[in-house]
Amino acid sequence: MIRSTWRALPLALMLGASAAALAPAAWAKTPPAAPAAKPWLDPKLDADTRADLALKAMTQDEKMTIIFGYFGADMGDKYKRVPQALPGSAGYVPGIARLGIPAQFQTDAGVGVATQGGEPKKRERTALPSGMATTATWNPKLAFQGGAMIGSEARSSGFNVMLAGGVNLVREPRNGRNFEYGGEDPLLAGVMVGAQIKGVQSNAIVSTIKHYALNNQETGRFVLDAKIGEADARTSDLLAFQFATEISDPHSVMCAYNRVNGDYACQNDFLLNKVLKQDWKYKGYVMSDWGATHSAAKAANAGLDQESAGQAFDKEPFFQGPLKEALAKGEVSQARLDDMARRVLRGLFASGVVEKPVKIADIDFAAHAKITRADAEEGIVLLKNDGGLLPLAKTARKIAVIGGHADVGVLSGGGSSQVYPIGGRAVQGEGPATWPGPMIYFPSSPLKALKVRLPGADIQFADGKDVAAAAKLAASSDIVLVFATQWNGESFDSPLTLENGQDALIDAVASANAKTVVVLETGGPVFMPWLGKVGGVVEAWYPGSEGGEAIARVLTGEVDASGRLPVTFPASLAQLPRPVLDGDPNMPEALFDVDYTIEGAAVGYKWFDKKGHQPLFAFGHGLSYTTFAYANLQAASKDGRVTVSFDVRNTGARTGKAVPQVYVSPKTGGWEAPRRLAGFKKVELAPGASTRVSLTVDPRPLATWNEKAHGWSVAGGDYIVALGASSRDTAARAEVSVPAATLPVGLMTR
Ligand code: BGC
Repeated sequence: MIRSTWRALPLALMLGASAAALAPAAWAKTPPAAPAAKPWLDPKLDADTRADLALKAMTQDEKMTIIFGYFGADMGDKYKRVPQALPGSAGYVPGIARLGIPAQFQTDAGVGVATQGGEPKKRERTALPSGMATTATWNPKLAFQGGAMIGSEARSSGFNVMLAGGVNLVREPRNGRNFEYGGEDPLLAGVMVGAQIKGVQSNAIVSTIKHYALNNQETGRFVLDAKIGEADARTSDLLAFQFATEISDPHSVMCAYNRVNGDYACQNDFLLNKVLKQDWKYKGYVMSDWGATHSAAKAANAGLDQESAGQAFDKEPFFQGPLKEALAKGEVSQARLDDMARRVLRGLFASGVVEKPVKIADIDFAAHAKITRADAEEGIVLLKNDGGLLPLAKTARKIAVIGGHADVGVLSGGGSSQVYPIGGRAVQGEGPATWPGPMIYFPSSPLKALKVRLPGADIQFADGKDVAAAAKLAASSDIVLVFATQWNGESFDSPLTLENGQDALIDAVASANAKTVVVLETGGPVFMPWLGKVGGVVEAWYPGSEGGEAIARVLTGEVDASGRLPVTFPASLAQLPRPVLDGDPNMPEALFDVDYTIEGAAVGYKWFDKKGHQPLFAFGHGLSYTTFAYANLQAASKDGRVTVSFDVRNTGARTGKAVPQVYVSPKTGGWEAPRRLAGFKKVELAPGASTRVSLTVDPRPLATWNEKAHGWSVAGGDYIVALGASSRDTAARAEVSVPAATLPVGLMTR
């Protein structure tokens, strides 16, 4: 698979000079000899000191060398990978051997080691469930473990930079990449993606956080201009980045393709210099997305530190010749170039990559399977379960399993984050053969996993292509499981409607047997015109390498259903801030605006609450196989922090996991929306058991951004603290009086 097809879309971006003429360091002078002493290699010194020392020893060409990346895969005749890059990899940045500075080997992405081409067998790695699914666990520990697992596979595959950490908010439920991200709420997304990045970096490698910022739809992503006010951006999308950055200290930030208020994100002074580097005092380096660099001087001066895959995707290799010229003309200062190189060096020292060079090693796939399965099964959301259809009764004799290739595997999302499955693709010949395809089903069959767990049952499969046959099988079964899939991927947006007649199939099956449970494998929300007819709905997302096992464990009740929605499921397009998606996929170069001032900071449930829309399923919703009661809610304000505590009791007959959620609102209103998520906790309880949960509320969800004062302020007064099982189910209320406060502009310790 080569990426030339989709990359060819913005043709103007494809006019890069020939690779051979500009191979790494071919333009550089012969470097001086290695110095006798290399004090920057002393691990006892801090990363900043080491970066300063190394920088002093570098020639100008060496500084330029570490701020320019090469694509690591072939793109037909347009581009041949540089031989030093790992085959099929996202990127390569040469090292400085004489100084002991390693090369940077870059790989995608957030769900596992994803490669861009090469022999399929060699590409096989463990895939986590989608970012959306991991976020649906509401369990940061699992996110950390998953990140640690994929980071270790990156390291064992020879990569020291992982392009993970997608934290763009679901402003647009149709965004084709929502599956890579952390849902619609800044606190939840920040906490979950932050935990994952921390896990990746626990392997002494660099992780990115991406795509900074407001990269919320794929249609027109290379050109669209996201219009938004500063306060709204700071209280929504930027806040998600801020939380995740505080938690994980990612060594690199990947700036996005799109424009934000007029300037491309990778040459956006406000985003890069003002917010990230001045306000947040971010010390790492900013790398461009692949094809997102548009200039030399402007980008460098706006805060871009490293150009990625410059020859393959950008109009020119800007951070080579053009940047040299800009330096010579004084358009970019020497101090700025030094800062760029220093930041890259700092990332290498701070990550541990220098002391612990990456090397190819065996991967314990069996151990990693357990990690991805645990993540997947906690992310599966039981949306509806009338009459306790699930878990599958041990007495169900005849079970029909229909559609979704459930006999062979589970779906995954397409594009640069696509991990190649261990054991090969379960389904061939569906979806596009080239970028952002192929459409890949992982060979983890829900049907087989169910059969193992229910040996006494007669489980029949119908592929669903013959609707009448499927309905006939349904009519003669005790219970029916219909699997429905929707493939999303990078470079295109998603209709929220299931395709290929799946709605009609579900409708026909449910008409034949009301005891029908729909199992969805989708990137994000979809409409459910058949909802009133079916008995149950399970959202399994893209559940990763062990998805079939995870689904079967939840359906059979081997584990509780404990996922909760990180995203609102709308009932119609009319409910969205933009009922019609902006841009035209057939005119990828035509500039257009996306007006995010419509909803401002009221993203997702906040918009639905503000407008009084009734969603199909609310943010935070998800059923368990047991029931929980919340009691004795108390909120107090002490030393500038609000603390909330309450009892959670398992009132049902089996062990389960609750996700109590705390929402806050000022009593007098005045925010972008009635309420904001302020805290959450996942707790496991045995039947009859109870526990007291205490949460300290982060002050930012209580604050607003004051543009004039350039800072966060908490208005003094009474606040309502609401506790419940979703954003729309918050029966328990308490009030707390909070003193006025001013919060730091920068990153806070969490
Ligand atoms: C994507 C990034 C990815 C990069 C490298 C781009 O198309 O937007 O998320 O990391 O390619 O493959």
